[in-house]
Amino acid sequence: MVTISDLRNYIGKKVLLKGWVINSRSSKGIEFLIFRDGTGFLQCVADVSICGEEVYEKAKSLNKESSLELEGNVVSDDRQLGGVELQITNIEIIHLNKEEFPITNKPHGIEFLMNNRHLWLRSKRQWALMRVRNATIFAIHNFFQSEGFMQMDSPIFTANAAEGTTTLFKTSFYEQDAYLAQTGQLYGEAMAMAMGKIYTFGPTFRAEKSKTRRHLSEFWMIEPEMAFFDNDMNMDLIEKFIKSVVKEVIERTEFELSEILERDLDVLKKTVEIDFPRISYDDAVKILHGEKSVNGKTTIELLNEDLQKLNQTIDEISKSIAEREQMLLDKNLNKGKRNFIQNKVDTLKNELKELQEKASHIPEWMNSAKNFEYGNDFGGADETVLTRMFEVPIMVYNWPKEVKAFYMKRAEDNDNLVKGVDVLAPEGYGEIVGGSERETNLDLLLQRIENEKLPMEPYEWYLELRKYGSVPHSGFGLGLERLISWITGTKHIRETIPFPRMYGRLTP
Ligand code: 4AD
Ligand code: MG
Repeated sequence: MVTISDLRNYIGKKVLLKGWVINSRSSKGIEFLIFRDGTGFLQCVADVSICGEEVYEKAKSLNKESSLELEGNVVSDDRQLGGVELQITNIEIIHLNKEEFPITNKPHGIEFLMNNRHLWLRSKRQWALMRVRNATIFAIHNFFQSEGFMQMDSPIFTANAAEGTTTLFKTSFYEQDAYLAQTGQLYGEAMAMAMGKIYTFGPTFRAEKSKTRRHLSEFWMIEPEMAFFDNDMNMDLIEKFIKSVVKEVIERTEFELSEILERDLDVLKKTVEIDFPRISYDDAVKILHGEKSVNGKTTIELLNEDLQKLNQTIDEISKSIAEREQMLLDKNLNKGKRNFIQNKVDTLKNELKELQEKASHIPEWMNSAKNFEYGNDFGGADETVLTRMFEVPIMVYNWPKEVKAFYMKRAEDNDNLVKGVDVLAPEGYGEIVGGSERETNLDLLLQRIENEKLPMEPYEWYLELRKYGSVPHSGFGLGLERLISWITGTKHIRETIPFPRMYGRLTP
């Protein structure tokens, strides 16, 4: 069977395709079908003078998402996506829908779409997102496999917390209390002592009792762990890894990213080319406070500039809406022209609303940045302000120990800091990677476990790793969906995974 992705090789030939109709449009004696088969999209033409009355009538009877077999001639047409079109010669209907497909061409609310996720996955944008997800997964394996890492699977039923006790999903394992894995890291550390360099790639679970655009309850994490790596080597690897994955994803899915998702590829290309700034937590706080400038500007100056530019655009759009509304008052306007202007007004009003919302956030962000208290973790607004100063992801290292996990290594020169690193994506996408060098000092580890009031028993096996051939080692965790969100420019993480699990959503 021939697929749409392959059609360029069949120009001038007759082919048989199997798939679904997504749209149709009639003009005199010609029915245009937009057809998809999972590998791509194709315009097909049923011209009564070519395919005959019976096939033409069949083409007209099809409704959205009916499935069918199409026979036709492949013609080159540069105006079409993929550069080809199909002249239909025969149609075999596989399933003609009796009811209208729930997702129509009209705009739908997000709750409706999420409730129909099992059907929504068929639409173009979702198709493109899933293709990028697939390419990202492939690129991640490619990177680690070619760098000599061994893939390992860590358990999902676990007896211990590793990333704080507040986000644990409790379950039972026969008669015992158990938790769904928040991370595979502790097991990864054990495996790294056996294999040298490993990576996990699996589902992880966090009970996050709030709805945010960055949090899932079930997400996929990639966690490499390397023996004999300190945190500088860790940061070198993270940077090389992200650059390599972004580069490969652009190569594999440029069409999906630029044509369907309308992603600005310049930002991604810069990520591949420009070194990631490495900033200590102390300096990051100074930047937030406006005490330290980046490229000659402080956060306050840059955000004020942003605000001014935004307000200027808002004025321009408001003016252009008013002008068009004036035009609509003309009673002699014909219907076509009126609709055209009205549509433009609606689009401009939506744009205006978005910009006004953005403008209203900027003073809040500036305030929150200015008042950031040293020693805290960064909130979403702080991350947005900090990353606004840079074009590419940044790596923030040496964190106050209180805000980081028990296993992070104490900094040599400062007892209050640990050698952790967070990678923050540009354009407000926030933390995509969290990592660290691991504490090897058994006493310090015991102290941290006690301070956090964690039960000692489930960690006994982990502590043994420090008793036998303990070596410096480091690793990190990449949130797959966070990375895809940023790569595809999708504001909400829920669209980057086939069936999201998050607070308030367990179905479909
Ligand atoms: O920073 P986190 O909590 O780090 C760890 O779990 C370490 N054990 C990793 C390691 O050193 N091996 O999580 C790592 C990444 C975050 O940077 C974020 O990208 C993602 O996992 N993440 C989430 N993604 C979606 N939804 C959530 N609720 C997430 N929580 C973390
Ligand atoms: Mg983190």
